[in-house]
Amino acid sequence: MRIKNNALRSKIMSAQDAARLIANGDTVGMSGFTGSGYPKAVPQALAERAGAEHAAGRDFKIDLLTGASTGPELDGMLAKAKAIGRRMPFNTDPIARNAINAGEIDYLDMHLSQLAPIAWQGILGKMDVAVIEVSAIHENGNLVPSSSLGNNKAWLELADKVILEVNSWQSVDLDGMHDVYYGMALPPYRVPIPLVRADQRIGQPHMRVDPAKIVAIVETDAPDRNAPFSPTDDTARAIAGNLLDFLGHEVKMGRLPASLLPLQSGVGNIANAVLTGLIDGPFHDMMAYTEVIQDGMVDLLDSGRLRMASATAFSLSPQGAERVNADMARYREMMILRQQDISNNPEVVRRLGCIAMNGMIEADIFGAVNSTRVMGSRMQNGIGGSGDFARNSYVSIFMSPSTAKNGAISAIVPRVAHVDHIEQDVQVLVTERGLADLRGLTPRQRARVVIENCAHPDYQPMLRDYLARAEATSFGGYSPMIASEALSWHQRFIETGSMLP
Ligand code: COA
Repeated sequence: MRIKNNALRSKIMSAQDAARLIANGDTVGMSGFTGSGYPKAVPQALAERAGAEHAAGRDFKIDLLTGASTGPELDGMLAKAKAIGRRMPFNTDPIARNAINAGEIDYLDMHLSQLAPIAWQGILGKMDVAVIEVSAIHENGNLVPSSSLGNNKAWLELADKVILEVNSWQSVDLDGMHDVYYGMALPPYRVPIPLVRADQRIGQPHMRVDPAKIVAIVETDAPDRNAPFSPTDDTARAIAGNLLDFLGHEVKMGRLPASLLPLQSGVGNIANAVLTGLIDGPFHDMMAYTEVIQDGMVDLLDSGRLRMASATAFSLSPQGAERVNADMARYREMMILRQQDISNNPEVVRRLGCIAMNGMIEADIFGAVNSTRVMGSRMQNGIGGSGDFARNSYVSIFMSPSTAKNGAISAIVPRVAHVDHIEQDVQVLVTERGLADLRGLTPRQRARVVIENCAHPDYQPMLRDYLARAEATSFGGYSPMIASEALSWHQRFIETGSMLP
C-alpha cells in the first residue's frame, strides 16, 4: 500500500474530480523535470475539462509552473487543449513549442535554479494549486518524491491547495534516494548551503506538507515518458572524442585531478554520447553534480568509473527507466536527487568546481553561445540549467555538430542571433572537427581558434574572409565586426533555406 496515512486515504478521488478543484485563471505548480516525475492523470483530466469549457464558450486557462520539461500527458495535452496561459521555466514538448512560437502561450525562459526563489519573492503572484506526483505517503504524512524532485518542495510550501498523484509505477525503492534541504531562505536571512562534496547529504529523504492543504489524492500507475536517445553516430562520437582528449590533457597539465571534477552533463544525444565515451576513457572514481541522470550516466555508474551522481531528476529512455526501476535499491546507494535550487545552485556549482558540458544551437567566432533561439527568433527548448552551470563552473564547455540541417546551417557564425551565454561564460567549444580552448585568449585570438578548430570546411573560407574584412574595416578593433553583415548568414537561411551563398 503506497498511502500509509489513514486520514489522507479519505481524500482519494478520481482525476476528473481532482481537476474540478482547479479554476480558470489559477496559477498551478506541477511536479516534473525532463519527462520524469510529472503528474499524469490530473493534467489530462484538466485538458478534457478545458476542452469542455471552451466548447461551452467559456474561458479556461491556467498559468503553469513546473521544474522543467514534462511529458506529452502534461504539456502536450494542455497545450493542445489551449489551456496554458503563462508557462515557465522550460519546455521541450512540440505542441507547446508551436504554441509558444505562435504567441499563444506566454513563455518565460528562465534559469532553472531561479524559479523557486523568484516564486518565493512573490514576483509571480500567489500559487493557487500544486499538483505533485509522489511515489508514496508515509504514516506521518511525509511524502516520498518520485523520479524528479525539481521545484516540488517550493510548490508544496507556496500553494494554497495541494493535489497529490501517487504513482505505483514508480519504484518503492526510491524511498531514501532524495535529499530535501529545508535551509533555503531569501536575503537577508540566506545562509551558506553546507554542501562541500557532490556525494554529501544535507537534508532529509522526504517532503513535508501541511495535511490541511491536501484537497485530493489520485492514484495512478503510469510510466514516465521520456523520448528514447538516438543511437550514437560518428559525429557524436567525434565530439565526445575531442572532449575526452581535452580532459585527458588537462589532467596531464595538472589543471584537473585524475578523477576530474564533478561532471555536469546537459540533455540531448551528444551529451549522452560523451558520458558513454567516458566509460572507455582513462578516468576513474568520478562524481557527477548535475541536473539530470540520463542513460549514459547510468552506464557510467555501472561501469564503476563514476562513483556517484547527484541530480534533480532522471532523464531516461523508456528502456533506461525500466532498467533503473528494476534495480532502484542498488542505484539508491549511488544517486542523490535534490531540489533544483540546490542541484543547479550557482554557489554550490562554483564551490565544487563542476565541469559543465552542454549542447548549443550555435556559437559565434568570439565564443558567445545561443542555446535557445533558432535563427534568433524561434524558441527551441529554453536555457534550462545551462546558464546556472556555465557561468559558475570550473570549466564551461559547449558542444554541437559543426553544421545542422544537412549542412545548410553553420553552427559557427559571425555573430550569434541570440545570446544565452556571453563569451566570458564560455571557455571551450567543441564540434566534430575539433576543440577550441578559449581560455586566456582575446576576442581576435578566439576568432581564429574557433574558425580553424571548430567550423566546417564548407564555411571556413567564408568565416576567414569575414574576419579579415571585419579587422580591416571595423569601427573598433577589439572585437571586430561588420554590423550590416553579422547576421546576414541567418537572413540568407531564412530567405533561401541555406546559409551558403
Ligand atoms: N540552427 C538551426 N537548428 C539547429 C541548430 C542550428 N544551429 N542546431 C541544432 N538545431 C536543431 C537540430 O536540427 C534539431 O532539430 P530537429 O529537432 O528538428 O531535428 C534540434 O535543434 C536539436 O538538435 P540536436 O542536434 O538533436 O542536439 P541536442 O539534442 O544536443 O540539442 C539543444 C541541442 C541546444 C537544442 C539542447 O542542448 C538544448 O535545448 N539546450 C538548452 C538547454 C540546456 O542546455 N540544458 C541542459 C542544462 S543542464
